[in-house]
Amino acid sequence: MTGRSSLAQLPSNAESPQWQLNRDMLAATLDTLLAIPNLAELRTALATLQQRLHDPGDPIHRTDGSVVLFTPVVLIADLEQIATARTLERARYYLTRLRRSLDEPRFAPTSDIDLRRWKEYDDILTDSLWLIERRDTSGVHRADYWGNFVPQIPRQFIRRYTRPGEWVLDPFAGSGTTLI
Ligand SMILES: C[S@@+](CC[C@H](N)C(=O)[O-])C[C@H]1O[C@@H](n2cnc3c(N)ncnc32)[C@H](O)[C@@H]1O
Repeated sequence: MTGRSSLAQLPSNAESPQWQLNRDMLAATLDTLLAIPNLAELRTALATLQQRLHDPGDPIHRTDGSVVLFTPVVLIADLEQIATARTLERARYYLTRLRRSLDEPRFAPTSDIDLRRWKEYDDILTDSLWLIERRDTSGVHRADYWGNFVPQIPRQFIRRYTRPGEWVLDPFAGSGTTLI
């Protein structure tokens, strides 16, 4: 097991089923892809890698060594992004980013979020527009104070800017949604 990529250190709220992949084999494969001198050949190699990932019997799924976990849909989308890049330079940029995510984590300064795996945190909204369908009513909070916000909003900030156990100051606590 290595660094952030180990089983114990996965994004804690990842709800999707994960692929457990052989880290060294995946890293070596990506290194090989990085050395490919043209886009057409790189795309063929990427297609082969995708097939291997979808084959549970492929050695890339062997978990007897160091293991890295990936949300399948995220990893496949990353490979698609590389394959559809218009230039080799751009493809290598995406590829290098993916390759780096297998190395040590790069933590956000104010949280335990691994910025190299940000796409895999199911509970963090990463779009510039936060679309929240309905209020989370799972807490003991009552929503009858008209000036309150939905609990999901402070939750987004607390996830990004605190680590577990830290204090949060909300000087405009109102009905106390932030506490919920
Ligand atoms: C819009 S409400 C906040 C609602 C809160 N986020 C919630 O979900 O319940 C703003 C709150 O800030 C408080 N407030 C406004 N100006 C303040 C001030 N100068 N000092 C302390 N509290 C203040 C108001 O009394 C009100 O409770």
